[in-house]
Amino acid sequence: MIVSVNKENLSEAAKVYMDSWKESHKDICSAEFIEKHDLEYMKNYLNDKLKDLYVIYIYYADEIPVGIVGINPTDEEICLLYVSPENQGKGYGTKLLSHALSLCKNPYITVLDTNTKAIDFYLKRGFVPAEEQAENSNKKKIFERKYVYLYKNM
Ligand SMILES: CC(C)(COP(=O)(O)OP(=O)(O)OC[C@H]1O[C@@H](n2cnc3c(N)ncnc32)[C@H](O)[C@@H]1OP(=O)(O)O)[C@@H](O)C(=O)NCCC(=O)NCCS
Repeated sequence: MIVSVNKENLSEAAKVYMDSWKESHKDICSAEFIEKHDLEYMKNYLNDKLKDLYVIYIYYADEIPVGIVGINPTDEEICLLYVSPENQGKGYGTKLLSHALSLCKNPYITVLDTNTKAIDFYLKRGFVPAEEQAENSNKKKIFERKYVYLYKNM
C-alpha cells in the first residue's frame, strides 16, 4: 500500500530514509558525515521538503514501512527514492517509481555517477541521460547527472 507522508507517519518515512541513505552513502562519505544523518536530521529534512510542497509517498508492505519516493511539484523531479536495505530487490522500488511516474507529465531524476546500482535501475526503467547537464563548475569529484523519462505508462 502506498500512502502520502504527513506528520503522523513522518518518523516512519525518516527511518526508512535514514537506513537506506546511510547504507548507500557509506563508501562515499566520511563516517562523521554519515553519523550526522540521524533520525532527527532525516525527519527535519523530509519535513522541510513537505513545507516546500514536495509530495512524498511511503510504501507499506504488510504494514511495515519499506520505502519512500518524492516529487518536486515545481519541476517534476522524482527524488528521495529509498528502499530500506533489508527490503531491496523485492520490487518495492519499481512500484514506488511507477507510482511517482503515474503522477508526472515530464519527470526527471538526478543520480550520482558513483551510484551504479541506481543508474542501472533507472536505465532499465526508461530513463536516459538528459542532453543538457549541469556544469560541473566546481569540479566536484562526484558528479550528479540528470536523466529524463522516455515513455509514459511504464
Ligand atoms: C535503487 C533502489 C531504490 C531500488 O529499489 P529496490 O526495491 O531494490 O528495486 P526493485 O526490487 O524494484 O528492483 C531492483 C533491481 O535490482 C535487483 N536486485 C536484486 N537483488 C537486489 C538487492 N539485494 N538489492 C537491490 N537490488 C537487487 C533486482 O533484481 C532488480 O533488478 P532489475 O533491474 O533487473 O529488475 C534501492 O536499491 C535503493 O534504495 N538504493 C539506495 C538508495 C538510492 O540509491 N536511491 C536512488 C537515489 S537517486
